[in-house]
Amino acid sequence: MCGIVGYIGTRNATPITLEGIKRLEYRGYDSSGLAIIDAEGNLKIHKKPGKIIELERTLPSPEKIYGTVGIAHTRWATHGEPTEVNSHPHTCCHHKLALVHNGIIENYRNLRKKLESENHIFVSDTDTEALVHLIEHFANKTDNLTQAVQEALKLVEGTYGIALISSDHPDQLIAARKGSPLILGIGENEFFITSDVSAIIIHTKKVIYLQDNEIVTLNRDSFKITTLENEAVNAKISVVDWDVSSIDKGEFKHFMLKEIFEQPVSVENAFRGRLFPNLSTVRLGGLNMTGEELRRIQRLQIVACGTSWHSALIGKYLIETLARIPVEVEYASEYRYRNPIIPPETVVIFISQSGETADTLAAMREAQAKGARALGITNVVGSTIARESDGGVYIHAGTEIGVASTKAFTSQVTILSMIAVLLGRMNNLSPTFGASYIKEIQKLPEKIQQILDTNDKIMEIAKTIIDAKNALYLGRGVNFPVALEGALKLKEISYIHAEGYPAAEMKHGPIALIDAKMPVVAIAPDDMIYDKIISNLQEVKARNGRIISIATEGDKRIAENSESVIYVPKTIYTLQPILTVIPLQLLAYYVANLRGLDVDQPRNLAKSVTVE
Ligand code: G6P
Repeated sequence: MCGIVGYIGTRNATPITLEGIKRLEYRGYDSSGLAIIDAEGNLKIHKKPGKIIELERTLPSPEKIYGTVGIAHTRWATHGEPTEVNSHPHTCCHHKLALVHNGIIENYRNLRKKLESENHIFVSDTDTEALVHLIEHFANKTDNLTQAVQEALKLVEGTYGIALISSDHPDQLIAARKGSPLILGIGENEFFITSDVSAIIIHTKKVIYLQDNEIVTLNRDSFKITTLENEAVNAKISVVDWDVSSIDKGEFKHFMLKEIFEQPVSVENAFRGRLFPNLSTVRLGGLNMTGEELRRIQRLQIVACGTSWHSALIGKYLIETLARIPVEVEYASEYRYRNPIIPPETVVIFISQSGETADTLAAMREAQAKGARALGITNVVGSTIARESDGGVYIHAGTEIGVASTKAFTSQVTILSMIAVLLGRMNNLSPTFGASYIKEIQKLPEKIQQILDTNDKIMEIAKTIIDAKNALYLGRGVNFPVALEGALKLKEISYIHAEGYPAAEMKHGPIALIDAKMPVVAIAPDDMIYDKIISNLQEVKARNGRIISIATEGDKRIAENSESVIYVPKTIYTLQPILTVIPLQLLAYYVANLRGLDVDQPRNLAKSVTVE
């Protein structure tokens, strides 16, 4: 969501923190700001609504804004419009403290009222400003800044990742977290604070993932992590094992396009070393479950948000088909407040690219509180869901920066297909079928590449729908969630209203919308329900609807019913989504690009939603 970067060391903090938040801009981009303590010990704050480039344009030259301790923030507004005054960093009455914050202070109204009654003057509409005044309140009583922050945070209800500097303590930077990710980077004679490791990876790979209720005090040559009760914490230093090239656009115009084209590799990374064709099964050691425990599973629940929720729907098809284990799929935001029933021998899987989505995390904690075993399928190593789950699988898709998720989706489905084989082989899936399934998984990267090679044609088709106001995506069976995902991609980045529907349900409502202007995207590969979907398409055609079909190579019949056809190679029915989604990602990308929109940072969205 928002992004935080802090620096303390011997170099100028301004370019370091500014470059850092630029790397995080994909997470929030409605306003930004930075604060440093300059050489004279004065606190300097600069902020601007809009993209970081707006802030950069108005900053004085680096010599004029030089300081070796600083913090910066890129915002996705929760409380208060994205104006200059509501941007972070926020300061206190005496302009000595500067605070950046991710998360939501839920009791900020009460805190603000109380502080205003003590003559604190507020200038913004934000929840964050209440916290900086609260810290000021305690800082007025002690010389120990850490203690002032600890006392203030004890009164806070809600979630936070914060970084704070003070002109009274020019050799310190304080950071703390509860429910919002925060990472300490350890360099040579310098330290970094960030909400996402990609912001500091060019400076250091040595990091500590802070835990909830921990606070870190950075001095110029040392750091100390404690709890809010001031108990010392012995934290583990991790080494990040990816490098900066994974967060560059390379030859591509947008991260989203790069990530779409990475899928032959990212899907391969998801299964690499995990498939055992000779034994007709897969191994997923991170699940932390013995064969006996896996065999005892009677029921699965899969919980997620957004694109990850669409993967979960496909997971249901996969697992129920291959392993014959019943699966329920739920939105995390509903699950967490519904007091879910989790029968014995149920395992709950949480899917989250970022591993930080607030609703998914809260749902996982709820399931764990009820005694369930929680497994995480995540991309970001060291993320909160990865750390707090009882086991899980990393999808190893590499950093995903485009706000519209693409490669994470296909990797999640690849992992779910492997879980389905694993559980299937422990139940009633034959070795022959297990082996042929695994072989087919291995062929996916090559088949994805074949679809990517048709991207020029997909761009031409995109040209035909750029002026559409609405679009309908139809699919059946395992391709119904693909229809949902295709529609989501289009609306997220092109702002064309789009709906995904099970094809046969169309006649119960959406058919009323069909006319010569409305594109209908039909996912109709050659499988056992092909004839049924062809009938649905004829219903569309009879009403002058325009049909773009996704069909299996060699299918000639589909062209009779379609304005255009995009072909995908044949694969096993339950693996089709990994192929059929690729043209839909490209279609959405080209429509948005042709409409001149900011594909990587669509309006109002955020990559990782760390607030409710
Ligand atoms: C946001 C993103 C989506 C993503 C969803 C869930 O809405 O814009 O692309 O699918 O969050 O994110 P997660 O990281 O939990 O998969």
